[in-house]
Amino acid sequence: MTPFSPAKLKAFRAALLTWFDKNGKSYPWRETTDPWAILVSEMMLQQTTVASVIANRRFEKFLTEFPDLSTIAEASEEKILRAWEGLGYYNRVRNLQKTAQAVLQDHGGQFPKDATSLLTLPGIGRYTAGAVSSFAFNEPAPIVDGNIARVLARLFDYREAIDSTTGQKQLWTWAEQLLDIESPRLFNSAIMELGQTECSPRSPACLTCPVQTFCQAQNPAELPVKKPRKKFVAIDEHAIFILKNDHLLLAEGTGTRRKGFWHLPLRTAKEIAHCEAAFTSKYTITHHKVTVSLYLLEEDQLPNSLSEGEHFHPVNTLEDLPIPSPIRRIIQKALT
Ligand code: ADE
Repeated sequence: MTPFSPAKLKAFRAALLTWFDKNGKSYPWRETTDPWAILVSEMMLQQTTVASVIANRRFEKFLTEFPDLSTIAEASEEKILRAWEGLGYYNRVRNLQKTAQAVLQDHGGQFPKDATSLLTLPGIGRYTAGAVSSFAFNEPAPIVDGNIARVLARLFDYREAIDSTTGQKQLWTWAEQLLDIESPRLFNSAIMELGQTECSPRSPACLTCPVQTFCQAQNPAELPVKKPRKKFVAIDEHAIFILKNDHLLLAEGTGTRRKGFWHLPLRTAKEIAHCEAAFTSKYTITHHKVTVSLYLLEEDQLPNSLSEGEHFHPVNTLEDLPIPSPIRRIIQKALT
């Protein structure tokens, strides 16, 4: 069942596309149809705001370093992590590399055009598959991101949780039904941008909205509804800072998230109880709120042997090491 009659659907698409034609922003990833560049932009924009990606030229810099599939396919892990530093969720850049390798090995270096084939690539979900298919190839693939979900929930006054299985299914069905198959690239960009601008989370600009007459929302600012949020978990970390002849003691990360990264070595509260912290610093990662206490130790306060994975690194080489941004900030503060 289509939510609008055929005539209304046509009018909706026309209103949205006319608005986008006048008001659509120009972004670097809208100036290209290279699927590799589109994929990079989508991966970056999943975790970082448009404003920050633009302001720091992260998209352009990443593509200068990795202009094509073979450059990233052959790069060291250290190099790819360094290029992604500050963007967070580092498995994304590892997946970008795996995707590049898979496209080279299994698809002769050419990205598949359709969303279903794109979905089989590592780290590519339904949204990213639709985005690459429609933005790079202008194929009729729907997309639903947070902005589009909000537009759709309001348009159809949808009161169920949009992050539930039922909610997601409903939104993807609507996205597919509304999609203008004559202009998938423009339509998907337009509905996303409507969500980013007019149909904002807290104060939707309904009076100037190009599709206001199609919108069924009774209380737009109250939509969409989501499942209750998981609470943040507070963690205390005790990090030690030991400089020896301009070399800083660092520990190599373990586990999937920290693998390949260098951190300040951690000690338990008990191990460090006799010392006083120089300062504390807070950062948030996924659902953890971390408070790091930093202890400036003298070399003679070290145990006789270092723990596994702990090494001294010359301070002037820290720039080239993958270090999570919050930890780098702490190191910088301790060094000044
Ligand atoms: N956010 C995620 N993808 C985007 C895109 N293609 N354009 C603008 N914002 C985005």
